[in-house]
Amino acid sequence: MNIAVVGLQWGDEGKGKIIDYLSEESDVIVRFQGGNNAGHTVVVEGKKFVFHLIPSGILRKQKICVIGNGVVIDPAVLIGEIEFLKKAGVEVTPDNLKISFLSHVIMPYHKIIDSLREKIRDQKIGTTKRGIGPCYADKVYRCGIRMIDLLTPKVFSTKLRDNLREKNLLFEKVYKIKGFPFKEIFDEYSYYATVLKPYCCDLVDFFYRERKKKFLFEGAQGTLLDVDFGTYPFVTSSNTVFTNLFVGSGASSIKIDRVIGVSKAYTTRVGGGPFPTEVKDELSEYFQEKGKEIGATTQRVRRCGWLDLVILKRAVLLNNVTELAVTKLDVLDGLKKIKYCVRYQRVEEQPSYYYFGDLSGVKPVYEEINGWFTPTSEIRDYRHLPDLAKNYIEIIEKALGRKVKLISIGERREAIIKKLS
Ligand code: IMO
Ligand code: MG
Repeated sequence: MNIAVVGLQWGDEGKGKIIDYLSEESDVIVRFQGGNNAGHTVVVEGKKFVFHLIPSGILRKQKICVIGNGVVIDPAVLIGEIEFLKKAGVEVTPDNLKISFLSHVIMPYHKIIDSLREKIRDQKIGTTKRGIGPCYADKVYRCGIRMIDLLTPKVFSTKLRDNLREKNLLFEKVYKIKGFPFKEIFDEYSYYATVLKPYCCDLVDFFYRERKKKFLFEGAQGTLLDVDFGTYPFVTSSNTVFTNLFVGSGASSIKIDRVIGVSKAYTTRVGGGPFPTEVKDELSEYFQEKGKEIGATTQRVRRCGWLDLVILKRAVLLNNVTELAVTKLDVLDGLKKIKYCVRYQRVEEQPSYYYFGDLSGVKPVYEEINGWFTPTSEIRDYRHLPDLAKNYIEIIEKALGRKVKLISIGERREAIIKKLS
């Protein structure tokens, strides 16, 4: 069985936890897009691990973790993550961590330009300022620097010089800040190259050779942050939908049997952009506090709101989702009423492409059910959930036409319910 896990909302759906659970049954866990804008949290035996680049499957023994060509790599962050894990007693070696030599590298100027661009825009995206967008832009612009380029000093030197010639002009003339010195960056990144070289390899070959193993693909961000299908321009700069896993890894010989779409029991979003079911009263504070809705990457407080079945339906279609995982159900424990959006109010007879092109201004139409008061976080058997909680899960299943197979009711590894039917 090969599985892909994708976020169905605006990221932070709790994918890390679901991946950690599923990785027990997998041999190889693969990241195929995004970079260290992602923050995947896993809590094992009271210890909290936040992953930005390395697939969270690394916590389990005998697994191979892969960072595909579709991922943009900040080498200092990656090395930091490797060192942190080693210190925590987790084994990280070239045998269990493989990095595509075709992955693009986030350079210091990418991070600076990420912030500068945001500063001068009226329409602020609220990026993570990790240089993600500018790095992907350079990749498509054909001036990006890949892992393989770092490994060959002559190639790296030429590419870096070409980049700095143009970028330093931009920094100095347009943004009026000092440009970047060649030697410092060259030395720093050459050092990173020597540390990361043993992990770099040709994944195309790897996937073919290992095609009989069990694969788990770990999506980062969420469907509504997809650069094509999300709430553009308030999106990330990669394709987050499941089909990108083939391009972002080269795993064309792997057949995906299950696509698990992960959704919170409500909705959150970090950064700017439309969010139809957002709430702004004390309920928002309730979600933020009870759900600990603070970004794992940037520590920003997340915007919160009710579940939006309209975006979820679209995300299910876009990812060809075969089953669902609902996370943070326990956050709803104790709410008198639970609302969920079933459709958007149409202004006259607007076609759906109108609102999916720009969700700002759409008005959600809600239905409401009674909430439950029994705490759910210690429950491990679906049958023991309060009837009203089961009712909520069944409403989601019915609306999306897919079964919920996993329910998470807390951040600890064991706080999970496997739903059998
Ligand atoms: P995980 O994998 C939530 C958001 C940013 C911003 C937009 C663009 O943890 O779910 P970027 O730095 O990517 O150019 O920012 O995307 N964003 C995320 N929001 N979870 C994430 O990842 C995110 N990665 C990016 O907040 O709105
Ligand atoms: Mg996150």
